[in-house]
Amino acid sequence: MASPAAGGVVIVGSGLIGRSWAMLFASGGFKVKLYDIEQQQITDALENIRKEMKSLEQSGSLKGSLSAEQQLSLIGGCGNLAEAVEGAVHIQECVPENLELKKKIFAQLDRIVDDRVILSSSSSCLLPSKLFTGLAHVKQCIVAHPVNPPYYVPLVELIPHPETAPATMDRTYALMKKIGQSPVRVLKEIDGFVLNRLQYAIISEAWRLVEEEIVSPSDLDLVMSDGLGMRYAFIGPLETMHLNAEGVISYCERYSEGMKRVLKTFGPVPEFSGATVERVNEDMCMKVPDDPEHLAARRQWRDDCLMKLSVLKYQMQPK
Ligand code: NAI
Repeated sequence: MASPAAGGVVIVGSGLIGRSWAMLFASGGFKVKLYDIEQQQITDALENIRKEMKSLEQSGSLKGSLSAEQQLSLIGGCGNLAEAVEGAVHIQECVPENLELKKKIFAQLDRIVDDRVILSSSSSCLLPSKLFTGLAHVKQCIVAHPVNPPYYVPLVELIPHPETAPATMDRTYALMKKIGQSPVRVLKEIDGFVLNRLQYAIISEAWRLVEEEIVSPSDLDLVMSDGLGMRYAFIGPLETMHLNAEGVISYCERYSEGMKRVLKTFGPVPEFSGATVERVNEDMCMKVPDDPEHLAARRQWRDDCLMKLSVLKYQMQPK
């Protein structure tokens, strides 16, 4: 008889991100085994996923073509790693962002897996060369970095180790598509991957503009949420160039001198300390006090917005 996890997915670490992955894989019809070092985390995860899925079903936002009950029946817990990984096609590691801990988990997995399963890490910033070098199954290893909350924000950055087999990238890419995520191939590893490099570039200039008293912190945020962000939810910066002129070539002809002039005035990397931290914090706390209740309520609102945006994005797909 096939093992319960045959053809299925194993989630190692049942915290915030592990739970989201479990829901996404179940929405794509995959059997999911949740593993954690803490039995209580598995119990809590299963309970939390049940509640989430029921509520998503009620609001009409459950992903996939299966009912919540059908999806829930695909997810189970397992307290034994070797048992969990037997027959699995994909293992998604979601333990805390700690290099030594992750290396320990991958070394453990390296000893018990076959030559077919994909070993994927959810790491936000640890380089594949740090995580996977020296593993016997390095060809099967990849970083698949999701964006929080993964259920509503579909992007997944796929980052290979220099020795990762092209087939590992291709299979992971296809799997992500199958569960409705939006994978991108990062062709070689780089610190910060792509998403955080873009994010840090924006934060960095935002910080300098506030530090130099060009704009207030809350007005700075409006420039993004009511300005640039409106189009960035649908098209990226390069397509923006393409559409804002008669194509990219025309954009570069028209605007490159202006862009270079402005870019040369950008200051050094900010320190993110001192009086500017206080000023930004004061403005942010006026809008959202930094106690757990207010922060949780605002996060909930953000997730509701993202859920509605993901529906809109789906409806607005070009025919
Ligand atoms: P978390 O702290 O919510 O969950 C981590 C889970 O791992 C816990 O359930 C813990 O009991 C378990 N764990 C710890 N040691 C373990 C071990 N030896 N074996 C098995 N399980 C173990 O962490 P979170 O936020 O889910 O993050 C997980 C990974 O996802 C990290 O690498 C993080 O950088 C990445 N990530 C997180 C995002 C976020 O916004 N939270 C976004 C994108 C990626």
